[in-house]
Amino acid sequence: MTETKLIRGRLLSFKRAPLSLADSDSYTYEHDGALLVSDGRIAAAGDYAAVRQVAPEGTPEIDHRPHLILPGFIDCHMHFPQMQVIASYAADLLEWLNTYTFPEECRFVESDHAARIATHFYDELLRHGTTTAVAYCSVHKTSADAFFAEALKRGMCMVGGKVMMDRNAPQGLLDTPQMGYDETRAVIKEWHGKGRNHVAITPRFAITSTPEQMSAAQALAREFPDLFIQTHLSENQEEIRYTCELYPEATDYTDIYARYGLLGQKTLLGHAIHLSEREADALSEAGAVAVHCPTSNLFLGSGLFPLKALMRREKPVRVAVATDIGGGSSYSMLRTLDEAYKIQQLLGERLNPLESFYLMTRGNAEALGMQADIGTLEVGSTADVVVLDAAPTPAMKLRMETIRTLPEELFLLQTMGDDRAIIETYVAGAAMKPK
Ligand code: GUN
Ligand code: ZN
Repeated sequence: MTETKLIRGRLLSFKRAPLSLADSDSYTYEHDGALLVSDGRIAAAGDYAAVRQVAPEGTPEIDHRPHLILPGFIDCHMHFPQMQVIASYAADLLEWLNTYTFPEECRFVESDHAARIATHFYDELLRHGTTTAVAYCSVHKTSADAFFAEALKRGMCMVGGKVMMDRNAPQGLLDTPQMGYDETRAVIKEWHGKGRNHVAITPRFAITSTPEQMSAAQALAREFPDLFIQTHLSENQEEIRYTCELYPEATDYTDIYARYGLLGQKTLLGHAIHLSEREADALSEAGAVAVHCPTSNLFLGSGLFPLKALMRREKPVRVAVATDIGGGSSYSMLRTLDEAYKIQQLLGERLNPLESFYLMTRGNAEALGMQADIGTLEVGSTADVVVLDAAPTPAMKLRMETIRTLPEELFLLQTMGDDRAIIETYVAGAAMKPK
């Protein structure tokens, strides 16, 4: 457990989703603020002088002024075995999967390879200020073992799942309905609840699971109703066409998952770009989360996710944001929200910087139902924290000279920032950014 300490700087934490750029009631901001961290949790937060007073005599202090202190970023969809797939040149999703991604994931049958990549994976998350991620492992149990072992070592709150896939992929990447069931169960028994690890039931998508395997996923979801379920939905037109051909009895793509009992409040649906009104209603009624992956959607040419339109529907769809490494092209949630902003611009919508920073912190925590532990700087939360510098490069420093308000500073961080803007990343109060 980390020692008691004070972390001083400019604190920003959201209380709820901002309604507009002027909605200063949606967040708390302390210009000279501090967090008192004790046993890995936030024991006090607020004005520096007040927090200093309640700190035990002699508590060491880390002074990050003039930098911003925010809750650590949360990434709601990414693929641990795709670090060496990023920047693969393909026409679209299915070509990208078949040509690069599936062959690469075959390598994760080797535990040494999985362990090596796991080290790099957590280094990159922490370098980019991300303290929690929801990830797909490969089909091999070895990959889930490496993923959770490394998270445990670093004390990080992570969600992950052994992928279930039993067709339409190379032999080295296939399980069977029974194997997918048994190995997911084994991963749950070994890792769920150990440290801050959460196991997700992870049928990759309907194309790579037979109806028998979908039934196995349904059995797991019934047996373990508290677990997250993650899969992909309506990312690409050709994918949608082929999926519906494979499940002709279903009304549409969303209905496939509904038929197998996989749509609920703990369901995270990657992409969900091309939904009909009926499908959006179904997600809304189930309370399932559509996870927007903007850098990936642009990189693979998948489409423009109607984020704002889904949020303001009469039956709103819950949303989250994510990198989708390695279809996505950056580990940075700053880069990710920059691309999300541009997608909304192309759709004639506005995504303001308060909303963006809400989404990558508290918003994603709420999507996971974990806002009592992560995503805010509230007392009682685990001290997962990121320290941001809005002037880490000459160009950003020059622009900062003319910036007057907090939303302007956030917008600069989002528009030009990346890992160079991350001064430190704390996990349960311990400074963890790789040097
Ligand atoms: N659909 C099924 N698998 C994948 C994947 O690995 N990446 C993306 N972007 N979409 C998928
Ligand atoms: Zn994905």
